[in-house]
Amino acid sequence: MPFPIHRPRRLRSNPVLRDMVRENHLSPADLIYPLFVIFGKKVKNEISSMPGCFQMSVDNIVKEAQAAYKLGIPAIILFGIPEHKDASASEAYSPKGVVQQAIKAIKDKVPELMVITDVCLCEYTDHGHCGVIKKGKILNDPTLELLAKEALSHARAGADMVGPSDMMDGRVAVIRETLDANGYDEIPIMSYAAKYSSAFYGPFREAAESTPSFGDRRSYQMDPANRREALKEVALDIEEGADIVMVKPAMSYMDIISDVKETFDLPVAAYNVSGEYSMIKAAAQLGWIDETKVMMELLISFKRAGADMILTYHAVEAAKELNK
Ligand code: PBG
Repeated sequence: MPFPIHRPRRLRSNPVLRDMVRENHLSPADLIYPLFVIFGKKVKNEISSMPGCFQMSVDNIVKEAQAAYKLGIPAIILFGIPEHKDASASEAYSPKGVVQQAIKAIKDKVPELMVITDVCLCEYTDHGHCGVIKKGKILNDPTLELLAKEALSHARAGADMVGPSDMMDGRVAVIRETLDANGYDEIPIMSYAAKYSSAFYGPFREAAESTPSFGDRRSYQMDPANRREALKEVALDIEEGADIVMVKPAMSYMDIISDVKETFDLPVAAYNVSGEYSMIKAAAQLGWIDETKVMMELLISFKRAGADMILTYHAVEAAKELNK
């Protein structure tokens, strides 16, 4: 008869005990802060579907990066909004690209902050897809070369880590090979390994101006109905040389985070995506939820599921809360 011998409530009776038996912890050191960089000076455009997030010019990005670092956030990930989009995504790998400029400026002012870059073409192509298009088809192999050029140009600008998010087959191998051949063998790859074709990316596409002009991303991003396939994707990226593997989105995909953590021994990143952020902001604005509590509960649940690090637009707010 477990009861009355076993009373789980004994260990919940006061805050000291609860602290002592807590299984998971969240710290600002777990957080990676995504930032959107745009050409211009003193630009700070709020993204209407992501209150508290902005498209910022390099000068303002540097300030934001500095502030994040002061709060104990170790890393940011940069997304760029180019001046001109074209079929070959040329600004993605231009040395004068907006991300390349931002990397230099940030590393100059806050050298200790880890600068990760998102490696993808969708922000830079005129059609908004993540790859090269021919006859309405998104081509895999011709895209790889452009992704490798983009990753290399980020490394040359001073990026500390690259994060391919395109979901083309074989891109981790090609990026690894290209970085190594150019003397960047120490730059790690954080691959968006299990990235689903998700409606939760909606607000991001407003932020990054990257909505596909036709069709959707289902021929390259994963089907939300699939679980085992995530392990296949992650295994392939690891074989190709990924150093950190990501699951994205995070909230509706905690089973995948958990599977990946159980199956592999690499660090796991979870991307708490734009739509997840926006839903919390919207419900909070309506007064329906306690924003801070819901945010902190969500973030700890990613840790509980197995995430070693969390990419989140809540990073600054969460770090402030954790530093209280
Ligand atoms: C680029 C990319 C996307 C996100 C991160 N990198 C958009 C997409 O795949 O459509 C989404 C991030 C978010 O929603 O917060 N491919």
